[in-house]
Amino acid sequence: MMDEQILKLLKECDSDFLSGEEISRQLDVSRTAIWKRVNSLRAKGYEIEASRRLGYRFIRSPDLLIPLEVKPILKTELLGRRIHWFNRIDSTNSKAYELALLGAEEGEVVIAEMQEGGRGRLGRRWFSPPLKNIYCSVILRPRIPPNQAPLITLVTAVATAEAIERSSGLLPEIKWPNDILLRQRKVAGILSEIHSEMDRINFIILGIGINVNMDEAMFPEEFRYTATSLKIEKGVEISRKELLSCLLEDLENWYKIFLKKGEGQILKAWREKAKIKGKKIKIKSFGEVLVGFCVDVDSDGALILKMEDGRRRRVIAGDLEYIIEKLE
Ligand code: BTN
Repeated sequence: MMDEQILKLLKECDSDFLSGEEISRQLDVSRTAIWKRVNSLRAKGYEIEASRRLGYRFIRSPDLLIPLEVKPILKTELLGRRIHWFNRIDSTNSKAYELALLGAEEGEVVIAEMQEGGRGRLGRRWFSPPLKNIYCSVILRPRIPPNQAPLITLVTAVATAEAIERSSGLLPEIKWPNDILLRQRKVAGILSEIHSEMDRINFIILGIGINVNMDEAMFPEEFRYTATSLKIEKGVEISRKELLSCLLEDLENWYKIFLKKGEGQILKAWREKAKIKGKKIKIKSFGEVLVGFCVDVDSDGALILKMEDGRRRRVIAGDLEYIIEKLE
Protein backbone atom coordinates (compact mmCIF):
# COMPACT_ATOMS: atom_id res chain seq x y z
CA MET A 1 0.00 0.00 0.00
CA MET A 2 2.80 2.41 0.92
CA ASP A 3 4.64 1.51 -2.32
CA GLU A 4 1.55 2.48 -4.30
CA GLN A 5 1.28 5.80 -2.45
CA ILE A 6 4.96 6.64 -2.96
CA LEU A 7 4.74 5.86 -6.66
CA LYS A 8 1.58 7.93 -6.99
CA LEU A 9 3.22 10.97 -5.37
CA LEU A 10 6.37 10.64 -7.47
CA LYS A 11 4.45 10.14 -10.72
CA GLU A 12 2.33 13.22 -9.95
CA CYS A 13 5.52 15.34 -9.98
CA ASP A 14 6.17 14.39 -13.60
CA SER A 15 9.94 14.59 -13.95
CA ASP A 16 10.59 16.82 -10.94
CA PHE A 17 12.20 15.77 -7.67
CA LEU A 18 10.08 15.39 -4.55
CA SER A 19 11.88 15.66 -1.23
CA GLY A 20 11.95 12.76 1.20
CA GLU A 21 10.69 15.17 3.83
CA GLU A 22 7.60 16.06 1.77
CA ILE A 23 6.81 12.39 1.10
CA SER A 24 7.20 11.49 4.78
CA ARG A 25 4.95 14.42 5.73
CA GLN A 26 2.22 13.45 3.25
CA LEU A 27 2.27 9.74 4.17
CA ASP A 28 2.92 10.33 7.84
CA VAL A 29 5.89 7.95 8.09
CA SER A 30 9.59 8.46 8.78
CA ARG A 31 12.10 9.42 6.09
CA THR A 32 13.97 6.18 6.77
CA ALA A 33 10.82 4.20 6.03
CA ILE A 34 10.49 6.06 2.72
CA TRP A 35 14.12 5.37 1.86
CA LYS A 36 13.60 1.64 2.56
CA ARG A 37 10.48 1.48 0.38
CA VAL A 38 12.20 3.33 -2.48
CA ASN A 39 15.04 0.82 -2.35
CA SER A 40 12.62 -2.07 -2.45
CA LEU A 41 10.84 -0.50 -5.44
CA ARG A 42 14.18 -0.19 -7.21
CA ALA A 43 14.84 -3.87 -6.53
CA LYS A 44 11.53 -4.61 -8.32
CA GLY A 45 12.81 -2.76 -11.39
CA TYR A 46 11.45 0.77 -10.83
CA GLU A 47 13.90 3.44 -11.95
CA ILE A 48 13.90 6.14 -9.28
CA GLU A 49 16.68 8.69 -9.06
CA ALA A 50 17.74 9.68 -5.55
CA SER A 51 19.56 12.87 -4.60
CA ARG A 52 20.60 13.75 -1.06
CA ARG A 53 19.71 17.39 -1.66
CA LEU A 54 16.61 17.16 -3.88
CA GLY A 55 14.93 13.91 -2.89
CA TYR A 56 13.47 11.36 -5.30
CA ARG A 57 12.55 11.51 -8.99
CA PHE A 58 10.47 8.93 -10.85
CA ILE A 59 11.99 7.85 -14.15
CA ARG A 60 10.30 4.69 -15.38
CA SER A 61 8.24 1.68 -14.32
CA PRO A 62 9.44 -1.82 -15.16
CA ASP A 63 7.58 -3.46 -18.04
CA LEU A 64 6.07 -6.05 -15.73
CA LEU A 65 2.51 -7.10 -15.01
CA ILE A 66 3.04 -6.77 -11.25
CA PRO A 67 -0.01 -5.80 -9.14
CA LEU A 68 1.60 -2.45 -8.37
CA GLU A 69 1.40 -1.57 -12.07
CA VAL A 70 -1.87 -3.26 -12.98
CA LYS A 71 -4.07 -2.42 -9.99
CA PRO A 72 -4.02 1.39 -10.30
CA ILE A 73 -5.45 1.20 -13.84
CA LEU A 74 -7.85 -1.71 -13.27
CA LYS A 75 -11.52 -0.72 -13.13
CA THR A 76 -13.05 -4.01 -11.98
CA GLU A 77 -15.01 -4.91 -8.86
CA LEU A 78 -14.37 -8.64 -8.78
CA LEU A 79 -11.67 -9.83 -11.18
CA GLY A 80 -8.12 -9.05 -10.09
CA ARG A 81 -9.00 -7.78 -6.61
CA ARG A 82 -6.26 -10.18 -5.68
CA ILE A 83 -3.46 -10.82 -8.19
CA HIS A 84 -0.86 -13.56 -7.70
CA TRP A 85 2.14 -12.55 -9.81
CA PHE A 86 5.06 -14.79 -10.78
CA ASN A 87 8.18 -13.97 -12.73
CA ARG A 88 8.28 -17.55 -13.99
CA ILE A 89 5.98 -20.46 -13.38
CA ASP A 90 5.14 -23.88 -14.74
CA SER A 91 1.61 -22.93 -15.82
CA THR A 92 -0.69 -20.20 -14.49
CA ASN A 93 -3.62 -22.61 -14.92
CA SER A 94 -1.98 -25.26 -12.74
CA LYS A 95 -1.18 -22.62 -10.09
CA ALA A 96 -4.72 -21.19 -10.16
CA TYR A 97 -6.16 -24.73 -9.86
CA GLU A 98 -3.94 -25.39 -6.85
CA LEU A 99 -4.95 -22.07 -5.23
CA ALA A 100 -8.63 -22.74 -5.90
CA LEU A 101 -8.37 -26.15 -4.22
CA LEU A 102 -6.91 -24.33 -1.21
CA GLY A 103 -9.93 -22.01 -1.11
CA ALA A 104 -8.94 -19.02 -3.29
CA GLU A 105 -11.91 -16.76 -3.91
CA GLU A 106 -13.83 -16.01 -7.07
CA GLY A 107 -12.01 -13.32 -9.06
CA GLU A 108 -8.48 -14.12 -7.92
CA VAL A 109 -6.07 -13.98 -10.83
CA VAL A 110 -2.71 -15.63 -11.52
CA ILE A 111 -0.30 -13.80 -13.86
CA ALA A 112 3.17 -14.83 -14.99
CA GLU A 113 5.85 -13.18 -17.09
CA MET A 114 6.80 -16.57 -18.54
CA GLN A 115 5.62 -20.18 -18.34
CA GLU A 116 7.91 -23.18 -18.43
CA GLY A 117 5.08 -25.62 -19.02
CA GLY A 118 2.37 -23.47 -20.62
CA ARG A 119 -0.54 -25.75 -21.55
CA GLY A 120 -2.85 -25.52 -24.56
CA ARG A 121 -6.05 -27.38 -25.42
CA LEU A 122 -6.02 -31.09 -26.22
CA GLY A 123 -2.69 -31.69 -24.46
CA ARG A 124 -0.74 -29.27 -26.63
CA ARG A 125 1.89 -26.90 -25.26
CA TRP A 126 1.52 -23.10 -25.24
CA PHE A 127 4.67 -21.27 -26.24
CA SER A 128 5.31 -18.83 -23.36
CA PRO A 129 8.55 -16.82 -23.66
CA PRO A 130 9.36 -14.12 -21.05
CA LEU A 131 8.01 -10.57 -20.93
CA LYS A 132 6.37 -10.48 -24.37
CA ASN A 133 2.88 -11.84 -23.88
CA ILE A 134 0.00 -12.27 -21.47
CA TYR A 135 -0.40 -15.50 -19.51
CA CYS A 136 -3.28 -15.17 -17.13
CA SER A 137 -5.67 -17.50 -15.27
CA VAL A 138 -8.87 -16.39 -13.55
CA ILE A 139 -10.67 -18.33 -10.83
CA LEU A 140 -14.47 -18.30 -11.05
CA ARG A 141 -17.04 -19.98 -8.84
CA PRO A 142 -20.31 -19.58 -10.77
CA ARG A 143 -23.51 -20.97 -9.29
CA ILE A 144 -24.69 -22.59 -12.54
CA PRO A 145 -25.24 -26.24 -13.48
CA PRO A 146 -22.09 -27.97 -14.81
CA ASN A 147 -23.66 -28.47 -18.25
CA GLN A 148 -23.65 -24.68 -18.72
CA ALA A 149 -19.90 -24.41 -18.15
CA PRO A 150 -19.02 -24.33 -21.89
CA LEU A 151 -20.91 -21.03 -22.06
CA ILE A 152 -18.30 -19.50 -19.74
CA THR A 153 -15.71 -20.37 -22.38
CA LEU A 154 -17.78 -18.48 -24.95
CA VAL A 155 -17.97 -15.56 -22.48
CA THR A 156 -14.16 -15.63 -22.29
CA ALA A 157 -13.71 -15.78 -26.05
CA VAL A 158 -15.98 -12.77 -26.59
CA ALA A 159 -14.26 -10.80 -23.79
CA THR A 160 -10.77 -11.64 -25.10
CA ALA A 161 -11.68 -10.59 -28.66
CA GLU A 162 -13.26 -7.39 -27.34
CA ALA A 163 -10.23 -6.53 -25.15
CA ILE A 164 -7.90 -7.02 -28.14
CA GLU A 165 -10.13 -4.78 -30.21
CA ARG A 166 -10.29 -2.07 -27.53
CA SER A 167 -6.57 -1.95 -26.87
CA SER A 168 -5.21 -2.39 -30.41
CA GLY A 169 -8.00 -1.35 -32.76
CA LEU A 170 -7.61 -4.71 -34.57
CA LEU A 171 -10.70 -6.81 -35.30
CA PRO A 172 -10.22 -10.43 -34.26
CA GLU A 173 -12.42 -13.34 -35.28
CA ILE A 174 -13.39 -16.22 -33.01
CA LYS A 175 -12.91 -19.79 -34.20
CA TRP A 176 -15.10 -22.32 -32.39
CA PRO A 177 -14.92 -22.89 -29.56
CA ASN A 178 -12.37 -20.36 -28.36
CA ASP A 179 -9.44 -19.57 -30.62
CA ILE A 180 -8.93 -15.91 -31.38
CA LEU A 181 -7.64 -15.20 -34.87
CA LEU A 182 -6.26 -12.27 -36.83
CA ARG A 183 -5.79 -12.83 -40.58
CA GLN A 184 -6.71 -16.48 -39.93
CA ARG A 185 -3.70 -16.86 -37.61
CA LYS A 186 -4.00 -17.58 -33.93
CA VAL A 187 -3.30 -14.61 -31.66
CA ALA A 188 -4.89 -15.89 -28.44
CA GLY A 189 -6.13 -19.12 -26.91
CA ILE A 190 -8.25 -20.12 -23.96
CA LEU A 191 -7.91 -23.19 -21.78
CA SER A 192 -10.85 -23.63 -19.41
CA GLU A 193 -10.62 -26.24 -16.69
CA ILE A 194 -13.40 -27.25 -14.36
CA HIS A 195 -13.63 -28.85 -10.93
CA SER A 196 -17.18 -30.00 -10.33
CA GLU A 197 -19.58 -32.49 -8.86
CA MET A 198 -22.51 -33.94 -10.84
CA ASP A 199 -24.78 -31.05 -9.95
CA ARG A 200 -22.54 -28.16 -8.97
CA ILE A 201 -19.40 -26.41 -10.08
CA ASN A 202 -16.73 -25.97 -7.43
CA PHE A 203 -14.64 -23.71 -9.62
CA ILE A 204 -13.63 -22.95 -13.18
CA ILE A 205 -10.15 -21.82 -14.21
CA LEU A 206 -10.08 -19.62 -17.28
CA GLY A 207 -6.59 -19.62 -18.73
CA ILE A 208 -5.97 -16.97 -21.35
CA GLY A 209 -2.82 -16.61 -23.43
CA ILE A 210 -2.40 -13.65 -25.78
CA ASN A 211 0.57 -13.19 -28.12
CA VAL A 212 1.25 -9.50 -27.65
CA ASN A 213 4.71 -8.18 -28.56
CA MET A 214 6.36 -11.15 -30.23
CA ASP A 215 8.11 -10.77 -33.58
CA GLU A 216 7.68 -13.43 -36.25
CA ALA A 217 11.20 -14.79 -35.76
CA MET A 218 10.49 -15.46 -32.06
CA PHE A 219 7.91 -18.16 -32.86
CA PRO A 220 9.25 -21.68 -33.12
CA GLU A 221 9.10 -23.04 -36.70
CA GLU A 222 6.04 -25.20 -35.92
CA PHE A 223 3.86 -22.14 -35.12
CA ARG A 224 5.42 -19.53 -37.43
CA TYR A 225 2.80 -19.78 -40.17
CA THR A 226 -0.24 -20.43 -38.02
CA ALA A 227 0.30 -17.98 -35.16
CA THR A 228 0.65 -14.24 -34.94
CA SER A 229 0.93 -11.45 -32.38
CA LEU A 230 -0.67 -8.05 -31.94
CA LYS A 231 2.67 -6.40 -32.70
CA ILE A 232 3.04 -8.30 -35.97
CA GLU A 233 -0.48 -7.31 -37.04
CA LYS A 234 -0.42 -3.72 -35.82
CA GLY A 235 3.21 -2.85 -36.51
CA VAL A 236 3.74 -1.30 -33.06
CA GLU A 237 4.13 -2.60 -29.52
CA ILE A 238 1.00 -2.83 -27.40
CA SER A 239 1.03 -2.05 -23.68
CA ARG A 240 0.61 -5.40 -21.92
CA LYS A 241 -0.76 -3.87 -18.74
CA GLU A 242 -3.40 -1.83 -20.61
CA LEU A 243 -4.42 -4.96 -22.51
CA LEU A 244 -4.54 -7.02 -19.32
CA SER A 245 -6.76 -4.49 -17.58
CA CYS A 246 -9.07 -4.32 -20.63
CA LEU A 247 -9.21 -8.12 -20.58
CA LEU A 248 -10.20 -8.36 -16.91
CA GLU A 249 -12.74 -5.54 -17.32
CA ASP A 250 -14.38 -7.08 -20.40
CA LEU A 251 -14.39 -10.52 -18.83
CA GLU A 252 -16.05 -9.20 -15.68
CA ASN A 253 -18.59 -7.29 -17.72
CA TRP A 254 -19.63 -10.29 -19.89
CA TYR A 255 -19.55 -12.67 -16.93
CA LYS A 256 -21.99 -10.43 -15.04
CA ILE A 257 -24.26 -10.15 -18.09
CA PHE A 258 -24.26 -13.93 -18.44
CA LEU A 259 -25.05 -14.55 -14.74
CA LYS A 260 -27.82 -11.93 -14.69
CA LYS A 261 -29.46 -12.41 -18.05
CA GLY A 262 -28.52 -15.88 -19.28
CA GLU A 263 -26.90 -16.83 -22.54
CA GLY A 264 -28.88 -14.67 -25.05
CA GLN A 265 -26.57 -11.66 -25.37
CA ILE A 266 -23.40 -13.66 -25.12
CA LEU A 267 -24.46 -16.00 -27.94
CA LYS A 268 -25.37 -13.00 -30.08
CA ALA A 269 -21.95 -11.37 -29.50
CA TRP A 270 -20.19 -14.69 -30.08
CA ARG A 271 -22.03 -15.26 -33.39
CA GLU A 272 -21.14 -11.75 -34.57
CA LYS A 273 -17.47 -12.32 -33.87
CA ALA A 274 -17.30 -15.92 -35.10
CA LYS A 275 -19.04 -15.64 -38.48
CA ILE A 276 -19.22 -19.42 -38.75
CA LYS A 277 -22.58 -19.84 -40.47
CA GLY A 278 -22.22 -21.71 -43.75
CA LYS A 279 -18.50 -22.43 -43.41
CA LYS A 280 -17.40 -25.91 -44.36
CA ILE A 281 -15.30 -27.49 -41.66
CA LYS A 282 -13.48 -30.63 -40.70
CA ILE A 283 -13.57 -31.41 -37.01
CA LYS A 284 -11.85 -34.05 -34.94
CA SER A 285 -14.00 -34.92 -31.98
CA PHE A 286 -13.39 -37.85 -29.62
CA GLY A 287 -11.49 -39.87 -32.25
CA GLU A 288 -14.05 -39.22 -35.01
CA VAL A 289 -13.47 -36.96 -38.03
CA LEU A 290 -16.58 -35.08 -39.11
CA VAL A 291 -16.96 -32.96 -42.23
CA GLY A 292 -19.92 -30.63 -42.58
CA PHE A 293 -21.26 -27.12 -42.75
CA CYS A 294 -21.67 -24.95 -39.65
CA VAL A 295 -25.30 -24.14 -38.99
CA ASP A 296 -24.96 -22.34 -35.66
CA VAL A 297 -23.80 -22.57 -32.09
CA ASP A 298 -26.40 -24.06 -29.73
CA SER A 299 -27.65 -22.43 -26.52
CA ASP A 300 -25.17 -24.55 -24.51
CA GLY A 301 -22.17 -23.64 -26.69
CA ALA A 302 -22.20 -26.85 -28.79
CA LEU A 303 -21.55 -26.52 -32.52
CA ILE A 304 -24.43 -27.56 -34.81
CA LEU A 305 -23.24 -29.13 -38.04
CA LYS A 306 -25.09 -30.08 -41.20
CA MET A 307 -23.39 -33.21 -42.48
CA GLU A 308 -22.90 -33.94 -46.18
CA ASP A 309 -25.79 -36.45 -46.06
CA GLY A 310 -28.10 -33.72 -44.71
CA ARG A 311 -28.23 -34.96 -41.10
CA ARG A 312 -27.54 -32.58 -38.24
CA ARG A 313 -24.94 -33.25 -35.56
CA ARG A 314 -24.15 -31.46 -32.34
CA VAL A 315 -20.45 -31.33 -31.42
CA ILE A 316 -19.52 -30.41 -27.87
CA ALA A 317 -15.72 -30.48 -28.14
CA GLY A 318 -13.10 -30.88 -30.79
CA ASP A 319 -10.41 -29.47 -33.00
CA LEU A 320 -11.77 -27.54 -35.92
CA GLU A 321 -10.27 -26.81 -39.33
CA TYR A 322 -11.89 -24.59 -41.94
CA ILE A 323 -12.32 -25.88 -45.47
CA ILE A 324 -12.83 -22.87 -47.70
CA GLU A 325 -16.22 -23.35 -49.29
CA LYS A 326 -19.59 -21.80 -48.52
CA LEU A 327 -22.99 -23.39 -48.09
CA GLU A 328 -25.45 -22.29 -50.84
C1 BTN B 1 -5.19 -23.16 -26.65
O1 BTN B 1 -4.71 -24.27 -26.90
O2 BTN B 1 -5.62 -22.45 -27.56
C2 BTN B 1 -5.28 -22.66 -25.24
C3 BTN B 1 -4.07 -21.91 -24.82
C4 BTN B 1 -4.17 -21.36 -23.41
C5 BTN B 1 -2.87 -20.77 -22.92
C6 BTN B 1 -3.02 -20.10 -21.60
S1 BTN B 1 -1.61 -19.14 -21.16
C7 BTN B 1 -2.23 -18.93 -19.56
C8 BTN B 1 -2.85 -20.25 -19.13
N1 BTN B 1 -1.86 -21.13 -18.56
C9 BTN B 1 -1.64 -22.21 -19.31
O3 BTN B 1 -0.82 -23.11 -19.04
N2 BTN B 1 -2.43 -22.17 -20.39
C10 BTN B 1 -3.28 -21.01 -20.40
